[in-house]
Amino acid sequence: MDKILVTGGAGYIGSHTVVELHEAGYESIIVDNFSNSEKQAIDGIEKIIGKNVKVYEGDCANEDFMENLFQTESGFKGCIHFAAYKAVGESVDNPLKYYGNNIGSLIILLKKLKKFNVSNLVFSSSCTVYGQPDDLPVSEKSPIQPAESPYGNTKQICEEILRDSNIAEEPIKTLALRYFNPIGAHPSAYIGELPIGTPNNLVPFITQTAAGIRKELTVFGDDFNTPDGSCIRDYIHVVDLSQAHVKALKKLLQIPESSYYDYINLGTGQGNSVLEVIKTFEEATGQNVNYSIGPRRPGDIEQVWADVEKASNELNWRSERDLATSLGDSWNWQKSLGK
Ligand code: NAD
Ligand code: WQD
Repeated sequence: MDKILVTGGAGYIGSHTVVELHEAGYESIIVDNFSNSEKQAIDGIEKIIGKNVKVYEGDCANEDFMENLFQTESGFKGCIHFAAYKAVGESVDNPLKYYGNNIGSLIILLKKLKKFNVSNLVFSSSCTVYGQPDDLPVSEKSPIQPAESPYGNTKQICEEILRDSNIAEEPIKTLALRYFNPIGAHPSAYIGELPIGTPNNLVPFITQTAAGIRKELTVFGDDFNTPDGSCIRDYIHVVDLSQAHVKALKKLLQIPESSYYDYINLGTGQGNSVLEVIKTFEEATGQNVNYSIGPRRPGDIEQVWADVEKASNELNWRSERDLATSLGDSWNWQKSLGK
């Protein structure tokens, strides 16, 4: 089995990707410092795939730790780099934490990949690089907008680092994947998103409200220029997203040239409003969501959804799971948490 290094593999998207890598015949070696995840994610992965996974607990931004890892585990075919902090609001309050971790870990990782001749890298980027695009759906040709948060800026800077290091000597073939809004959970409900504290994202807030953990969901504004006035996003099932990572990795493995850098949107190609998400959740699960309309959240963009043609052409991938399925899986995961 080809070995793949998965940084942040205990996290939400990483854990689902480890499962899909296994399904595709790859062995994942996980590196995670559990700064935003729990060991139970590893148990969940192991239950689904029916075997143990190798996990190295440590910080990707720590050069000694990463050197030791690469000395111990030789022969990686590729790497998928999920490890990063992702809370937009926290990044505004504590930018150095975000620049240090998100950029620091990428630089150390690139040094080790080069040193140990690992030449294929899939990188977690984000639709946040587009800000509020002029044209919808947003394609990869759309300009990058000035970042609205230090978190968003780390993704832009990381993409630039990856592009520049591919122009330089000893490049590492790289695909940056720009995710839209990942939601859902594995259908087994053994793994899913584990928000620490009060969720910032819509779907965990909905499931926690339906479960009675939160009293009420606030819809952040209903006076946007959209059909029902609430914001529109492109919500993609995390299993679809994870399968795209396997396809991205396979594509890189087939590229004969030593230098390659590209970026691809990963979304469904469809936008849904906040109110549509609530309604679909209620229909799919039979649960009532207690909500009220509140003021706009500062910095929220009005609407964005992905042009997915490039993903289709380059990766031969399209999302398969619809919004109701995604929300049903989120709810099953919430119920499995038993709180
Ligand atoms: P997550 O927080 O669930 O997973 C990230 C994992 O990385 C966690 O397990 C965390 O403990 C680990 N980690 C963080 N810094 C580390 C470090 N220095 N060393 C080792 N481990 C470290 O987040 P996620 O939702 O799975 O996101 C994965 C990636 O996708 C991130 O890069 C994120 O920015 C990006 N992304 C996420 C979304 C989203 O909405 N979830 C959208 C676009 C992009
Ligand atoms: C979705 C919609 C809210 C909570 C964030 C990051 C972005 C990317 C994905 C990483 C918005 C509305 C939310 C609530 C609400 N992550 N909402 N009430 O803002 O699209 O993107 O996650 O790269 O960088 O910014 O996702 O889930 O926070 O919000 O009405 O309690 O739900 O206004 O319209 P967002 P979200």
